[in-house]
Amino acid sequence: MYRSAMVSRTELPDRERRDSALADAGYNVFGLDAADVYIDLLTDSGTGTMSTDQWAAMVGGDESYAGSESFERLEAAVADVLGFRRLVPAHQGRGAEHLLYGALVEDGDAVIANTHFDTTRAHVVEAGGDPIDCPVADAWDADADGDFKGNLDVEAARDRAATVGAGRVPAVIVTLTNNSAAGQPVSIENVRAARELADDLDARLVIDGCRFAENAWFVREREPGWSDASIGEIVREKLAPADAVIVSGKKDGLVNIGGFVALADSEKRLHEELKQRAILYEGFFTYGGMAGRDMAAMAVGLREATDAAYLDHRIGQVQKLADCLEAEGVPVYRPVGGHAVYVDAGEALPHVPDGEFPGQALVCAAYREGAVRGVELGSFAFPDTDRPELVRLALPRRSYHREHIEHISETFGAVLDRREEITGLEVVEEPPRAELRHFSATLRPVEK
Ligand code: F0G
Repeated sequence: MYRSAMVSRTELPDRERRDSALADAGYNVFGLDAADVYIDLLTDSGTGTMSTDQWAAMVGGDESYAGSESFERLEAAVADVLGFRRLVPAHQGRGAEHLLYGALVEDGDAVIANTHFDTTRAHVVEAGGDPIDCPVADAWDADADGDFKGNLDVEAARDRAATVGAGRVPAVIVTLTNNSAAGQPVSIENVRAARELADDLDARLVIDGCRFAENAWFVREREPGWSDASIGEIVREKLAPADAVIVSGKKDGLVNIGGFVALADSEKRLHEELKQRAILYEGFFTYGGMAGRDMAAMAVGLREATDAAYLDHRIGQVQKLADCLEAEGVPVYRPVGGHAVYVDAGEALPHVPDGEFPGQALVCAAYREGAVRGVELGSFAFPDTDRPELVRLALPRRSYHREHIEHISETFGAVLDRREEITGLEVVEEPPRAELRHFSATLRPVEK
């Protein structure tokens, strides 16, 4: 549904170059030069294409230190689209998390979530809290049916909360879509149940709404009673129960950088506190680390993200990728989530033993075969959990076309045709913080 208004030259490096680039990167695709990547599915964050309206808004960005008009535009967009009038901007999502969780969480607290995203978990821990994940039972089952496998298991959450001291749960977090659980959506009913739980625990309800628009698309398609509502209505209805909403603008803000915390009208004191924290850590509270032009572009992007035709196209493309991969015999997590296809590497490479990182082996093989870059989200990224060996192929928004989808699926098809040639990997060097291992550790193929 788009024609190109600006283009970016890409090239498929030859096989020899791919082999040497991968070896030089220590078999970790985070170490590759982007110029050596043909199709980049590392993340959907900050990698999308802006519209001409967004570029036009950028030219009009107001770079005033205080009281920027671009901030006012962003404030108006957040009020119209998300329904929240209190806004504290931040340089990106994790900046917003630092502001909020640093204010809410104290030593010895526990925070409950449908599943903490990596940076969310890190900020809860940094503030002294214990992050507790309560996804629904089949969230990790790549074949289980389910309309809202991203939901919080509210009863499990209630049981876990009972084991924590009274008043020691400052926040219940619902991340929608649930990025750490295969990008699965969350229902409005579940958000409302989470609100009740938060009330019972005297906790705040925080929604991580990085992908608020994509989640709304699933509600319209799947949740009884919402098929005739507009995406805009669903977004506001879904976020309304929250005390605070965290957004990384790099996802459904359709921009390359930026984020914010939005707060309910009742949160006057918290708002003041976050403004002070913003001055300390992000920038004055009318820019929060963003350039005025970035705020101007996000104000437009937030509105564009709720266009139903855009979302049909966007999520349709992700589903198309899953179908094409499956047609090539690649096992994918079903149902497909909003922003990415998750490949089941454990099933794709059954001969690679546990402990030799089948997901990472698959990521490396796909790079060598077709210069496609995905990311491992299994035992390499999460050393001490029992997650399945998934590989995430995240599609940047409005960036790739059908030919790219074909190249990706043919690449994975070719990899699986010669799967027995793929060997496992072992770690050569890793950083001290295990939870950040997959960003910078180096590996080598296991000698057979
Ligand atoms: N919350 C969720 C659910 C996210 O997916 C991310 C980022 C963040 C918070 C942090 O936002 O990157 O702007 O600081 N997810 C990216 C990804 C990095 O690849 O999934 P950020």
